[in-house]
Amino acid sequence: MKLIIDDAHIDQIRKIYEYYPVDGVTTNPTILAKSGRQPYEVLREIREFIGDEAELHVQVTARAAEGMVEDAHKIIKELGKNTFVKIPSVPEGFKAMMALHGEGAKLTATAIYTPMQAFLAAKAGADYAAPYINRIDNMGYNGIKVARDIHDIFRNNGFKTEVLAASFKNSQQLLELCEYGVGASTVSPEVIFNLVKNEAITSAIDDFIADFEGLVGEGKTMKDC
Ligand code: E4P
Repeated sequence: MKLIIDDAHIDQIRKIYEYYPVDGVTTNPTILAKSGRQPYEVLREIREFIGDEAELHVQVTARAAEGMVEDAHKIIKELGKNTFVKIPSVPEGFKAMMALHGEGAKLTATAIYTPMQAFLAAKAGADYAAPYINRIDNMGYNGIKVARDIHDIFRNNGFKTEVLAASFKNSQQLLELCEYGVGASTVSPEVIFNLVKNEAITSAIDDFIADFEGLVGEGKTMKDC
Protein backbone atom coordinates (compact mmCIF):
# COMPACT_ATOMS: atom_id res chain seq x y z
CA MET A 1 0.00 0.00 0.00
CA LYS A 2 1.34 3.40 -0.98
CA LEU A 3 1.30 6.03 1.76
CA ILE A 4 0.57 9.55 0.55
CA ILE A 5 0.43 12.90 2.34
CA ASP A 6 -2.96 14.65 2.21
CA ASP A 7 -1.84 18.24 2.69
CA ALA A 8 -0.40 21.31 0.95
CA HIS A 9 1.74 22.90 3.65
CA ILE A 10 5.24 22.62 2.26
CA ASP A 11 6.88 22.72 5.71
CA GLN A 12 4.79 19.73 6.84
CA ILE A 13 5.47 17.88 3.59
CA ARG A 14 9.22 18.45 3.95
CA LYS A 15 9.17 17.21 7.54
CA ILE A 16 7.20 14.07 6.69
CA TYR A 17 9.48 13.29 3.74
CA GLU A 18 12.47 13.54 6.08
CA TYR A 19 11.12 11.05 8.63
CA TYR A 20 8.64 8.77 6.87
CA PRO A 21 8.71 6.56 3.75
CA VAL A 22 5.99 8.25 1.69
CA ASP A 23 5.01 8.14 -1.98
CA GLY A 24 3.64 11.55 -2.85
CA VAL A 25 1.08 14.22 -2.06
CA THR A 26 -2.67 14.59 -2.57
CA THR A 27 -4.57 17.85 -2.35
CA ASN A 28 -8.14 19.01 -2.73
CA PRO A 29 -9.63 22.51 -3.02
CA THR A 30 -10.15 22.75 0.77
CA ILE A 31 -6.56 21.71 1.45
CA LEU A 32 -5.31 24.34 -1.02
CA ALA A 33 -7.46 26.97 0.66
CA LYS A 34 -6.01 26.01 4.05
CA SER A 35 -2.50 26.64 2.69
CA GLY A 36 -3.50 30.30 2.28
CA ARG A 37 -1.48 30.52 -0.94
CA GLN A 38 -2.37 30.74 -4.62
CA PRO A 39 -2.99 27.22 -6.01
CA TYR A 40 -0.32 26.90 -8.68
CA GLU A 41 2.26 28.72 -6.57
CA VAL A 42 2.01 26.16 -3.77
CA LEU A 43 1.49 23.19 -6.10
CA ARG A 44 4.59 24.04 -8.16
CA GLU A 45 6.61 24.25 -4.94
CA ILE A 46 5.31 20.83 -3.86
CA ARG A 47 6.08 19.34 -7.29
CA GLU A 48 9.58 20.77 -7.25
CA PHE A 49 10.21 19.34 -3.78
CA ILE A 50 8.82 15.83 -4.34
CA GLY A 51 10.27 15.55 -7.87
CA ASP A 52 8.74 14.67 -11.22
CA GLU A 53 8.46 10.94 -10.50
CA ALA A 54 6.46 11.22 -7.26
CA GLU A 55 2.68 11.18 -7.29
CA LEU A 56 0.91 14.52 -7.00
CA HIS A 57 -2.91 14.57 -7.05
CA VAL A 58 -4.75 17.79 -7.87
CA GLN A 59 -8.51 18.26 -8.11
CA VAL A 60 -10.51 20.05 -10.81
CA THR A 61 -13.03 22.59 -9.54
CA ALA A 62 -15.32 23.14 -12.54
CA ARG A 63 -18.82 21.65 -12.19
CA ALA A 64 -19.42 20.64 -15.83
CA ALA A 65 -17.44 18.04 -17.78
CA GLU A 66 -16.06 20.49 -20.36
CA GLY A 67 -14.73 22.74 -17.61
CA MET A 68 -13.25 19.76 -15.76
CA VAL A 69 -11.36 18.79 -18.92
CA GLU A 70 -10.04 22.35 -19.27
CA ASP A 71 -8.99 22.36 -15.59
CA ALA A 72 -7.23 19.03 -16.16
CA HIS A 73 -5.30 20.36 -19.16
CA LYS A 74 -4.10 23.34 -17.13
CA ILE A 75 -3.15 21.14 -14.13
CA ILE A 76 -1.11 18.80 -16.34
CA LYS A 77 0.51 21.72 -18.21
CA GLU A 78 1.56 23.40 -14.97
CA LEU A 79 2.54 20.34 -12.91
CA GLY A 80 3.56 17.67 -15.38
CA LYS A 81 2.17 14.49 -16.90
CA ASN A 82 2.78 12.49 -13.76
CA THR A 83 0.09 14.54 -12.01
CA PHE A 84 -3.10 12.66 -11.19
CA VAL A 85 -6.15 14.77 -11.95
CA LYS A 86 -8.81 14.30 -9.28
CA ILE A 87 -12.32 14.32 -10.64
CA PRO A 88 -15.53 14.01 -8.58
CA SER A 89 -17.36 10.74 -9.21
CA VAL A 90 -20.63 12.17 -10.50
CA PRO A 91 -22.11 11.98 -14.03
CA GLU A 92 -20.30 15.14 -15.24
CA GLY A 93 -17.13 13.68 -13.77
CA PHE A 94 -17.55 10.32 -15.53
CA LYS A 95 -17.94 12.21 -18.83
CA ALA A 96 -14.73 14.14 -18.12
CA MET A 97 -12.92 10.95 -17.04
CA MET A 98 -13.79 9.18 -20.30
CA ALA A 99 -12.50 12.13 -22.36
CA LEU A 100 -9.30 12.52 -20.33
CA HIS A 101 -8.63 8.78 -20.21
CA GLY A 102 -8.76 8.83 -24.01
CA GLU A 103 -6.00 11.45 -23.93
CA GLY A 104 -3.84 9.32 -21.62
CA ALA A 105 -4.25 11.49 -18.51
CA LYS A 106 -3.75 9.96 -15.07
CA LEU A 107 -6.99 10.10 -13.12
CA THR A 108 -8.11 9.85 -9.51
CA ALA A 109 -11.86 9.53 -9.06
CA THR A 110 -12.73 11.36 -5.88
CA ALA A 111 -15.65 12.17 -3.54
CA ILE A 112 -16.51 8.47 -3.37
CA TYR A 113 -19.04 7.38 -0.77
CA THR A 114 -20.46 4.29 -2.51
CA PRO A 115 -19.03 1.25 -4.33
CA MET A 116 -21.23 2.04 -7.36
CA GLN A 117 -19.44 5.37 -7.85
CA ALA A 118 -16.10 3.54 -7.79
CA PHE A 119 -17.30 0.88 -10.25
CA LEU A 120 -18.44 3.52 -12.75
CA ALA A 121 -15.24 5.54 -12.28
CA ALA A 122 -13.14 2.45 -13.00
CA LYS A 123 -15.13 1.79 -16.16
CA ALA A 124 -14.63 5.43 -17.16
CA GLY A 125 -10.85 4.95 -16.95
CA ALA A 126 -9.84 6.13 -13.46
CA ASP A 127 -6.44 4.92 -12.20
CA TYR A 128 -7.45 5.45 -8.57
CA ALA A 129 -10.77 5.67 -6.76
CA ALA A 130 -10.82 7.58 -3.47
CA PRO A 131 -13.42 6.50 -0.88
CA TYR A 132 -13.70 8.88 2.09
CA ILE A 133 -13.31 6.54 5.06
CA ASN A 134 -14.05 8.82 7.99
CA ARG A 135 -16.79 10.77 6.25
CA ILE A 136 -18.53 7.47 5.41
CA ASP A 137 -18.19 6.40 9.05
CA ASN A 138 -19.74 9.70 10.11
CA MET A 139 -22.76 8.96 7.92
CA GLY A 140 -23.39 5.79 9.93
CA TYR A 141 -21.86 3.38 7.39
CA ASN A 142 -18.58 1.49 7.52
CA GLY A 143 -15.87 3.32 5.56
CA ILE A 144 -13.38 0.46 5.82
CA LYS A 145 -15.94 -2.01 4.46
CA VAL A 146 -16.76 0.32 1.57
CA ALA A 147 -13.05 0.56 0.69
CA ARG A 148 -12.64 -3.22 0.89
CA ASP A 149 -15.75 -3.78 -1.24
CA ILE A 150 -14.40 -1.38 -3.85
CA HIS A 151 -11.02 -3.18 -3.86
CA ASP A 152 -12.87 -6.50 -4.40
CA ILE A 153 -15.03 -5.05 -7.17
CA PHE A 154 -11.90 -3.89 -9.00
CA ARG A 155 -10.17 -7.26 -8.70
CA ASN A 156 -13.29 -9.31 -9.53
CA ASN A 157 -13.93 -7.26 -12.67
CA GLY A 158 -10.35 -7.23 -13.90
CA PHE A 159 -9.93 -3.45 -13.53
CA LYS A 160 -6.42 -2.07 -13.01
CA THR A 161 -7.92 0.73 -10.91
CA GLU A 162 -6.65 0.88 -7.34
CA VAL A 163 -8.25 2.14 -4.16
CA LEU A 164 -6.74 5.38 -2.86
CA ALA A 165 -8.40 5.52 0.54
CA ALA A 166 -8.80 9.03 1.95
CA SER A 167 -10.25 10.90 4.92
CA PHE A 168 -8.63 9.13 7.88
CA LYS A 169 -8.96 10.25 11.44
CA ASN A 170 -6.87 7.59 13.20
CA SER A 171 -4.21 4.97 12.68
CA GLN A 172 -6.58 2.03 13.28
CA GLN A 173 -8.55 2.93 10.14
CA LEU A 174 -5.28 3.02 8.19
CA LEU A 175 -4.00 -0.24 9.66
CA GLU A 176 -7.14 -2.11 8.62
CA LEU A 177 -6.54 -1.10 5.01
CA CYS A 178 -2.82 -1.99 5.25
CA GLU A 179 -3.93 -5.48 6.30
CA TYR A 180 -6.28 -5.72 3.34
CA GLY A 181 -3.65 -4.45 0.93
CA VAL A 182 -5.45 -1.68 -0.91
CA GLY A 183 -3.41 0.26 -3.45
CA ALA A 184 -2.85 3.48 -1.53
CA SER A 185 -3.97 5.61 1.38
CA THR A 186 -3.64 9.34 1.74
CA VAL A 187 -3.32 10.67 5.25
CA SER A 188 -3.14 14.10 6.91
CA PRO A 189 0.08 15.17 8.69
CA GLU A 190 -1.79 15.07 12.01
CA VAL A 191 -2.59 11.37 11.57
CA ILE A 192 0.88 10.56 10.16
CA PHE A 193 2.64 12.14 13.16
CA ASN A 194 0.52 9.98 15.47
CA LEU A 195 1.11 6.66 13.64
CA VAL A 196 4.04 5.77 15.89
CA LYS A 197 3.37 7.69 19.07
CA ASN A 198 2.93 5.64 22.15
CA GLU A 199 4.26 5.70 25.71
CA ALA A 200 5.37 2.06 25.59
CA ILE A 201 7.61 2.67 22.56
CA THR A 202 9.12 5.86 24.01
CA SER A 203 9.74 4.24 27.36
CA ALA A 204 11.38 1.14 25.82
CA ILE A 205 13.85 3.32 23.94
CA ASP A 206 14.50 5.51 27.00
CA ASP A 207 15.28 2.38 29.04
CA PHE A 208 17.74 1.05 26.43
CA ILE A 209 19.62 4.34 26.38
CA ALA A 210 19.65 4.73 30.18
CA ASP A 211 20.99 1.18 30.62
CA PHE A 212 23.68 1.71 28.00
CA GLU A 213 24.78 5.07 29.40
CA GLY A 214 24.97 3.44 32.83
CA LEU A 215 27.53 1.07 31.34
CA VAL A 216 29.66 3.39 29.18
CA GLY A 217 28.95 6.93 30.43
CA GLU A 218 26.36 9.65 29.91
CA GLY A 219 25.89 10.85 26.34
CA LYS A 220 28.01 8.05 24.89
CA THR A 221 26.72 5.83 22.08
CA MET A 222 28.08 2.78 20.25
CA LYS A 223 30.40 4.96 18.16
CA ASP A 224 32.17 6.15 21.34
CA CYS A 225 33.03 2.69 22.68
C1 E4P B 1 -9.25 12.96 -0.67
O1 E4P B 1 -9.48 12.77 -1.85
C2 E4P B 1 -10.05 13.89 0.11
O2 E4P B 1 -9.91 15.11 -0.56
C3 E4P B 1 -9.64 14.08 1.55
O3 E4P B 1 -8.82 13.07 1.99
C4 E4P B 1 -10.81 14.28 2.46
O4 E4P B 1 -10.38 14.26 3.79
P1 E4P B 1 -11.26 14.89 4.97
O5 E4P B 1 -12.52 14.09 5.08
O6 E4P B 1 -10.39 14.77 6.17
O7 E4P B 1 -11.53 16.32 4.59
